[in-house]
Amino acid sequence: PPLDALLNLDDVEAAAKTQISKKCWAYYYSAADDLCSKSLNSLAYRQILLRPRVFVDVTRGFSTEASILGGRYRLPTPLYVSPAAMARLAHPDGEAGIQRGVARFGALQIVSHNASMTPEQVAAAAPDGQILGWQLYVQTDRAKSERMLRRINALRDRYKFIVLTLDAPVPSKREHDERAGIEARLAWQPEPKPEPKPEPGPEPARASPPASSKKPDPNAGVGKQLFAGTAADLTWTSTLPWLARHTDLPVVLKGVQTHEDAFLAARCARARPDWNLAGVILSNHGGRSLDTAPPAIHTLLEIRKYCPEVLDAIDVWVDGGVRRGTDVVKALCLGAKAVGVGRAALWGLGAGGEKGVERVFEILQSEIETCMKMLGATSLSELGPRFVNTRVVERD
Ligand code: FNR
Repeated sequence: PPLDALLNLDDVEAAAKTQISKKCWAYYYSAADDLCSKSLNSLAYRQILLRPRVFVDVTRGFSTEASILGGRYRLPTPLYVSPAAMARLAHPDGEAGIQRGVARFGALQIVSHNASMTPEQVAAAAPDGQILGWQLYVQTDRAKSERMLRRINALRDRYKFIVLTLDAPVPSKREHDERAGIEARLAWQPEPKPEPKPEPGPEPARASPPASSKKPDPNAGVGKQLFAGTAADLTWTSTLPWLARHTDLPVVLKGVQTHEDAFLAARCARARPDWNLAGVILSNHGGRSLDTAPPAIHTLLEIRKYCPEVLDAIDVWVDGGVRRGTDVVKALCLGAKAVGVGRAALWGLGAGGEKGVERVFEILQSEIETCMKMLGATSLSELGPRFVNTRVVERD
């Protein structure tokens, strides 16, 4: 269908499905185990109700301008593209196409460590004035990460901060992705040779090794393949000083899922200004890491309850499950400074390359504006908890 016939993000996802390979769909769609966190991410927004006020003139001075990283940058919209691997699986425009698609809205893009284009190529697609972030998965071979950081430092006219992803120390089980890999392999591999008959003799202690001790199948899933080399030994006091030695760009921690860790991040930011910690992204990785981990909006509510001072101390961004402008506005009302979309941008790319991404942002931006005007708010600074009723998500 023509892109302007796609009226919402579900339409875009359905259109993408008809354009992209089965393997690409399985990789993007997939999430850990039973997809509980993935579906709860969207449901959590639907469980929060809005509280619109009347008799407000919303014609004057309307703006969705956002201020991020402690006021370092002003952006026309709080919407951003979360880092997601392998955009070229969906469309040859790839990550550069995502950049061109969002540039019209002045939206921020965070480029994945596992992007299918180089950070230089994506930066080259950004028009003057656009800023980007770069996402790091620290590698067991630290020298590799240090080389990447040198490249990002050299591109600092475009890349203004580093996003350090922490919620995936080990690969997760994403069965859609793995099954698509297995199907692809079964389609071309010759029949395995029959096992040779064992020599008669004493019974071995165990007939076959347990499944978990087998080598991971490299065809099993894109996710597992991309994971190879990722470090699982990161800590507050070793990783943050190491990172600060290799870049002086501000750092945002992605994958924070409890108020305790948000509190620790704010404490580090205050106690160790030399670590350049500027914010956290509340995220369960789109439900792709630990299934039944909480949606960002639950963690945001926890922070409001137990350590609300965090929201003033550092930037708190959220991602996961955003499908409507109302979702974005609810997160902003609860204190998020910016709101990310992962799959939605990829579905846009799959549905129509750079223009498809533009369509996704056009839909969301227009829904955000409608929602704010309906609520009686003309700027992000006016949004606050008075506009939401969180009773259903908070009952316990
Ligand atoms: C991701 N995500 C991700 N995160 C990250 O820090 N580095 C990465 O390389 C990737 N790769 C990736 C690939 C794909 C296909 C998806 C769908 C997601 C997670 C991403 O940044 C974000 O947290 C979620 O996508 C947000 O959820 P929604 O918007 O997809 O529901």
